[in-house]
Amino acid sequence: MSFQPSDTPEPLLQVKALSLEYATRERRVRATHNVSFNVFPADRFVLLGPSGCGKSSLLKAVGGFLPPLSGEILLDKRAITHPGPDRMMVFQEFDQLPPWKTVLDNVQFPLRVTGTLSAREARDQALHYLEKVGLADFADAWPHTLSGGMKARVAIARALAMKPKVLLMDEPFAALDALTRRKMQEELLELWDEVRFTLLFVTHSIEEALLIGSRILLLSPHPGRVRAELNSHQFERREEGGEAFQAAARRIHDLLFPPTTAPYSASARLLQGQDAPLPLLSE
Ligand SMILES: Nc1ncnc2c1ncn2[C@@H]1O[C@H](COP(=O)(O)OP(=O)(O)OP(=O)(O)O)[C@@H](O)[C@H]1O
Ligand SMILES: [Mg+2]
Repeated sequence: MSFQPSDTPEPLLQVKALSLEYATRERRVRATHNVSFNVFPADRFVLLGPSGCGKSSLLKAVGGFLPPLSGEILLDKRAITHPGPDRMMVFQEFDQLPPWKTVLDNVQFPLRVTGTLSAREARDQALHYLEKVGLADFADAWPHTLSGGMKARVAIARALAMKPKVLLMDEPFAALDALTRRKMQEELLELWDEVRFTLLFVTHSIEEALLIGSRILLLSPHPGRVRAELNSHQFERREEGGEAFQAAARRIHDLLFPPTTAPYSASARLLQGQDAPLPLLSE
């Protein structure tokens, strides 16, 4: 009798009933409440919700920078207890690159710190990823000579060069102008097509979530709870102006900001506590 492997892949990242809290001297602030989700290998998993719902806090917790108040986070079935090179983070700030290091040094520095690569190997790997983001010709440039989009590309190359199990991105394009942001979104998807990394991406833009995400977790306002989990992998970059895309965006908008006059709508049901994940966009 042969053993049949299961068709369902194991989740790479499991967030289980996670509540997060900040304790200051004056008070305690609950950031998320009982949030659960699974990220599978090569998912582009988006956390979407209004300002203050705890998206960055969730990313910090997955990064190992914020310990759970309750619940747990497992990466490859092991509890996350501290930061590690298997979870690289890209932020929205323009200036996340030390200005005294060239572009190449910025990318190869973390590779050298791990101590597993020789100087030559680290340099080759850094150059390989700079090439992937179209910046091989800027290896010797200083960060202050780069545009915002180029700095974001360097930060992405630096993170991917570490070959993390999951790439964490916290509104990485929010500080860019609209045209550059759109270009970066497209480039990120092209890079994903090529490298197939696992992405956990935070945004408060519905359109960005639909463009970037293969799965979208909707979070309610502060403190963040799961409102719905959606598939959105049928959307292509070119479909943004299309009817289906706009309908999906409206539907997400209604889930995030429920219309008060529609008591029987899906969003009203969700508000009444039936917040089981709905496969709204995948059907
Ligand atoms: N260092 C901190 N100390 C105390 N409270 C904090 C801290 N960081 C965040 N909070 C609080 O935790 C809650 C969630 O914040 P968080 O930054 O995770 O939200 P967010 O969804 O990322 O919002 P935004 O879209 O504005 O970035 C908020 O109420 C915030 O005030
Ligand atoms: Mg945030």
